[in-house]
Amino acid sequence: MENEKIYIFDAYGTLFDVDHACKEMAIQLGDNWNKLSSIWRQKQLEYSWLHNSMNQYVSFWNITKDSLEYAMNSLSINSVKIKNELLDLYFKIGAFEEVEEVLKKIKKNKIKTAILSNGSYDMLNSAVKNSKFDELISEIISVDECKKFKPHKDVYQLVIDKFNINKKNCIFFSSNCWDIHGASNFGFQTVWVNRKNNIDEFLPGKVDYQVQSLENYITKE
Ligand code: LAC
Repeated sequence: MENEKIYIFDAYGTLFDVDHACKEMAIQLGDNWNKLSSIWRQKQLEYSWLHNSMNQYVSFWNITKDSLEYAMNSLSINSVKIKNELLDLYFKIGAFEEVEEVLKKIKKNKIKTAILSNGSYDMLNSAVKNSKFDELISEIISVDECKKFKPHKDVYQLVIDKFNINKKNCIFFSSNCWDIHGASNFGFQTVWVNRKNNIDEFLPGKVDYQVQSLENYITKE
């Protein structure tokens, strides 16, 4: 594996659309669907960072449930039925449009791929299966293995332990800019998939490449 490179993908927001569940329920949620989705996602991330700080690891699925409850409360949406439907949809979550073709192209080029995610194994396996990516991803790595959330360095180290590869041969793709900084700070090369046209963060590490969708990076190779 001296010079072999690996493409490592963040899952939520990068391969899979975190707005998918609320979008699917737009009729029931009305104008609130967008707001609910963004509070849910923001809280989910905040809880992961706070659990890291408190040294209190719980599964990302628990965090996903708690953050949805918070988001629904904040918008006074009181329906157990809606909550359960949203969680079912999140468990199966859909992928962004370009992802399947991009993964097929990478496989054709014989480059190994991995998912490295805060998601628990059951969530990630369900998402991968639902999008029929089973044959397209070489390895799924969950933070369940180290019981820390990103951007703790132990998370990125999981890739090194699994593949016995040099950090500089790891190309890490994420739509989450803070995750890109975490991975770069650890020593990976980074590609920020800036799907929502955000601005860069002031954090250790750096963005090596920036694209709007995965397609833009892969097709330029
Ligand atoms: C993940 C979150 C950060 O998949 O989106 O790890």
